[in-house]
Amino acid sequence: MLRGRIEEFSDDGLGVLVVGGKRIHVPFAYPGDVIMVRDMKKRFGRLIARDFKLFDASPIRTTPKCQHFGKCGACLWQGLEYGEGLKFKAELFERITGISAPIKGSPRIWGFRNVSNFIVTTEGIGLKEYGSPSKVVNLSECPLFSRRTPEYLRALKDFLSETGLRPWNLKGKAGDVHYLQIREGKFTGEVMVNLIAHTKPPEEVVEALRDYFSFADSLYWSVKRDERDDPRGNPEFIGGNPFLSERIGDVTYLIHPYSFFQTNSYALPILLKAVENFTNGEKVLDLYSGVGTFGVYLAKRGFNVEGIEINPFAVEMANKNAELNGVRARFHVGRAEEIRIGDYDTVIVDPPRKGLKEAGELLVKSGVERLLYVSCNPRAFKLDYENHLRKAYRVEEAVLVDMFPHTPHVEAVIKLVR
Ligand SMILES: C[S@@+](CC[C@H](N)C(=O)[O-])C[C@H]1O[C@@H](n2cnc3c(N)ncnc32)[C@H](O)[C@@H]1O
Repeated sequence: MLRGRIEEFSDDGLGVLVVGGKRIHVPFAYPGDVIMVRDMKKRFGRLIARDFKLFDASPIRTTPKCQHFGKCGACLWQGLEYGEGLKFKAELFERITGISAPIKGSPRIWGFRNVSNFIVTTEGIGLKEYGSPSKVVNLSECPLFSRRTPEYLRALKDFLSETGLRPWNLKGKAGDVHYLQIREGKFTGEVMVNLIAHTKPPEEVVEALRDYFSFADSLYWSVKRDERDDPRGNPEFIGGNPFLSERIGDVTYLIHPYSFFQTNSYALPILLKAVENFTNGEKVLDLYSGVGTFGVYLAKRGFNVEGIEINPFAVEMANKNAELNGVRARFHVGRAEEIRIGDYDTVIVDPPRKGLKEAGELLVKSGVERLLYVSCNPRAFKLDYENHLRKAYRVEEAVLVDMFPHTPHVEAVIKLVR
């Protein structure tokens, strides 16, 4: 019988049950839980529980707020007491990277996410089930995102029913509407709606979109030309403001639907402060700069900033953000792997989840004294460090900021010196 106590978390935040010579990874189970695994599957060489019965709840469990907890793939750790989760995040980070770092919690743990991408399917509208590429949780709420989630979903359903547009069929790979992306400016109260569909809308459909989403401050329709389940298409501006604005402390950011923005507006000031505290000298390069989140903030504090970013929408926003905030930071379109790194006192890198890869070698060859590595993927950092960065840099200090409550993820700011 596959029954026993969960003793620890795996690196990716699943409860680990060791029983009968087997090591089973159990999503939604926590250290201290006594459980029985009822069903499991093998995935990438690991045994993953599909279902379990909880006999004795760990003392570090708490009552989840969301009715979809246990199925929805968005929050593995909502049943774990928040402070305990923070300790585990720091522990897992240290286990993976070897770096011991203090962790700072998110000032809000509900309603903190400023973006949600609801997949719109014949099975339901919401988020993917944990571990399943083809099953969708038909959401009626999302307490991590917004109290207004039911209103947004109602508007979409009414819009679909009036226009007759078909939700996406995951198996048949056909349909009209594939995603509803909503962004909220938590400090401005603004809402951006981006409907991602496989067809170009006729005028009466655009009118219906305007009617049903009349609460939107910014409205887009994106035409998607591929069948992939990702919220990306070719954006067409429909109405309102072309950009969403968000106010973080003394900086206003404009955000385009296709530019990355840090997802937790409430914890972002803590992340910005951590980056500022580790920044040295005058000349700063913000590599992977997005909409200029770090660069504009630092320029406002007197640093001389340049930024490089691959996405032209984000670069346009970053330069607008510099202007809007009255600072002289300059951002350019470029690939981090291909630039010549000039004479900077501090280089900030905030790469996508896959990490720096070859860009790591450019940094090693540069003369830059101080490198700040901002990352939500400790495994990618470890690889970048071991394969490249340690040839020239050593880790001096790090701090963790919880940008992702109720998940095992954490954002790290790691200071490396030459
Ligand atoms: C994690 S986001 C960070 C953005 C920004 N630092 C922020 O905090 O909002 C990573 C950014 O890297 C950009 N990016 C991805 N690959 C890149 C590359 N090869 N060269 C430059 N930028 C890249 C993405 O478009 C994205 O804006």
